[in-house]
Amino acid sequence: MLNGRRILVGITGGIAAYKSAELVRLLIKSGADIRVVMTAGGLEFITPLTMQALSGNPVHTTLLDTDAEAGMGHIELAKWADLIVVAPASADFIARLSAGMASDLLTTLCLATEATVAIAPAMNQAMWKNSRTQRNIAALGQDANVCVWGPGNGAQACGDVGLGRMLEPEQLCSCIAQYFSDGPLCGKTVVITAGPTREAIDPVRYVSNHSSGKMGYALAVAAREAGASVELISGPVALPVPNGVKFTSVSSAVEMLDAADSAADQQCDIFIAAAAVADYRPEDVPRQKIKKNQEKMVVELIKNPDIVASIASRKNKPFTVGFAAETQNVVAYAEGKLQKKNLDMIVANDVSDQRIGFNSENNAVTVLWEGGSETFSLQSKSLLAGNIVELIVSNMGCMHEK
Ligand code: PMT
Repeated sequence: MLNGRRILVGITGGIAAYKSAELVRLLIKSGADIRVVMTAGGLEFITPLTMQALSGNPVHTTLLDTDAEAGMGHIELAKWADLIVVAPASADFIARLSAGMASDLLTTLCLATEATVAIAPAMNQAMWKNSRTQRNIAALGQDANVCVWGPGNGAQACGDVGLGRMLEPEQLCSCIAQYFSDGPLCGKTVVITAGPTREAIDPVRYVSNHSSGKMGYALAVAAREAGASVELISGPVALPVPNGVKFTSVSSAVEMLDAADSAADQQCDIFIAAAAVADYRPEDVPRQKIKKNQEKMVVELIKNPDIVASIASRKNKPFTVGFAAETQNVVAYAEGKLQKKNLDMIVANDVSDQRIGFNSENNAVTVLWEGGSETFSLQSKSLLAGNIVELIVSNMGCMHEK
């Protein structure tokens, strides 16, 4: 994904510095070539040895270091980088960058480079809100070669809650992938549901289905490769989380709906519902394990919320794509769901065929939208995911032209 990209990661003083280790690990995994520069503050939070081991290169810490200058000097380092990512970027660093200072190695590099400098702010919410920080951020926003990623909202290490959290390493990876991507979904956010849901009967038993998550995960990779920022909301599966994707793990349909709603509240241009959501859940879930002393047992089920229909009913509805898992009248039933759930597109698969659908490597589908359809014969789920993403891109284009 980032093969051969030369990324300089700057680490300044903040508790989020521990997350930079994971960021560097993910970037290396994606094929990037990494150099790390740490400020004096950064060194208080994480050791250069950790960053050296993860990046595979010596860490640069001081401006006037004769040994370092004899190797890759600071100007050379500034010219080497395709992108500088400062994560975490403290309030102090942001102030010095905004003032054009060159008071340490990192600020000097940021002045000397012609590459883009991306900063991922991380600080206490009151510090972030402070008018001086906001002035500095606004001033940096005027600079053509600076971009600001984040901060995120939520609980902070100091106990406060609010804006100021550094974006998660996966989110930053996704921003970096998008930065280098010229794919058709560059700048778009795609939210995907995948896998089954589990509906508790009691603390040890549940109702679920055979979804493996393979289709949804393949779509997440295809959307990321098309340049999108991807959030994958997944039920319990045994697959590794794709690189460069924001990941939310859920269990039940209600949890999946909550995660989908909160993703759509932030930013969602395309919503793809590949999950096999349990349509019903047990109405009453006892706190203790049900004893097996009866010959027959009746579990009353109630309907689960319809996640994709709920997203499609939003005022600022994203381009919404559903799947239809059918065992008969596949296309006709899928057409009904397209209308009933107010979807822009639906992918119909015949799950009675063992070679495709649930828990198989391959799939064969008919994709339907208002006034059109396209059939894809048996192929790997990853190939199909690329084809579906391409179809979404061309249909979104048509919608925008309308
Ligand atoms: O995970 P795999 O093993 O790779 O298998 C892939 C798959 C067969 C699960 C996938 O290709 C698929 O068909 N997913 C949809 C399964 C399904 O629940 O279909 P449905 O026809 O019951 O639902 C229609 C649509 O409504 C789907 O997009 C579903 O995600 C959505 N839905 C359904 C119920 C509900 N309560 N909320 C929903 O959002």
